Amino acid sequence: MLGLETSCDETAAAVVEDGRRALSDVVSTQVDIHRRWGGVVPELASRNHVVQVLPVVDEALRRAGCTLEDLDLIAVTRGPGLLGALLVGVQLAKSLSAATGLPLVGVNHLEGHLLAARLLPTPPEPPFLALVVSGGHTSLYAVEDYGRYRRVGSTRDDAAGEAYDKVARLLGLPYPGGLPIDRLAQNGDPRAIRFPRALNVPGVYDWSFSGLKTAVRNHVRAHGVPEGQPLADLCASFQEAVADSLSRKLVAAARELHQTDVVICGGVAANSRLRALTLERAGEREIRVHLPPPALCTDNGAMIAVAGTEAWRRGERGDGQPVVDAGWTP
Ligand code: KG4
Ligand code: ZN
Repeated sequence: MLGLETSCDETAAAVVEDGRRALSDVVSTQVDIHRRWGGVVPELASRNHVVQVLPVVDEALRRAGCTLEDLDLIAVTRGPGLLGALLVGVQLAKSLSAATGLPLVGVNHLEGHLLAARLLPTPPEPPFLALVVSGGHTSLYAVEDYGRYRRVGSTRDDAAGEAYDKVARLLGLPYPGGLPIDRLAQNGDPRAIRFPRALNVPGVYDWSFSGLKTAVRNHVRAHGVPEGQPLADLCASFQEAVADSLSRKLVAAARELHQTDVVICGGVAANSRLRALTLERAGEREIRVHLPPPALCTDNGAMIAVAGTEAWRRGERGDGQPVVDAGWTP
């Protein structure tokens, strides 16, 4: 099975066996191209997918030691994401399918994130709770079974990664802002500034990060862009507000919905404080936390192959001609 992903700024392809074992997982990131604009430029993303997508597929086949003839199925992300970017992957997948006769299945990008944990050595079996936290999404899903997903919460405005990226911009830090803020925060005092935690109400599993971003902006307006220790303190205080809010609601939802297993995925799942605080809070309640390694958290082709395998197993055939759906949510 070949998994192909071009929904945002990563061109990715992977060969996965039995929906469980990645034989290769190749990702070509465009981060350096978008950095100078401070965010993803859709037109540039599409153009670079066009350049990268064939070499990335070739490399995935080469690393897996196979050719197109050895495959049994092609899975491709058909939404949600950037329209022009999605079209590149879907068009290539259709061409490969037409040329080889291989069946083709269109996959939801978020289902890919939700099922990435299946590639772990000891994956959680449904039912489990999965928090998808990336630059584009912050949503909590109850994975009742493969193909049965119930959204129990989501952000009402900015995604958590988007908040990181916007705050980094305010502080003059490079894009994407998650890692630089995470690194600076390691040496800062998380109690230095008390930033707001929005929607801090029992039973509400939605988030809001735009007020937090505004609070950082107001702080910078009042005190200027900090340097040295005050910068580290600001980063740590911001990071604490995000990690506190995400982990508190995730663990509360697990308790309320009687879930024993939770998964965190998406780029922000790499965050050191979110990981530590969730492990701490879940540990107190005997909830198991599954944290895929960063390469499986960020966009990749293997998770699309896994979701494609599951979609195929449950009989999603379509007519072999997946249609791009940029605004699709599961
Ligand atoms: O999943 P991803 O690679 O792309 C999508 O948005 O789909 O996530 C990228 C996001 C960016 O907003 C980036 O700032 C954030 O993940 N990120 C982090 C960390 N590493 C990446 N956020 C917080 N802490 C990190 N260590
Ligand atoms: Zn993603």
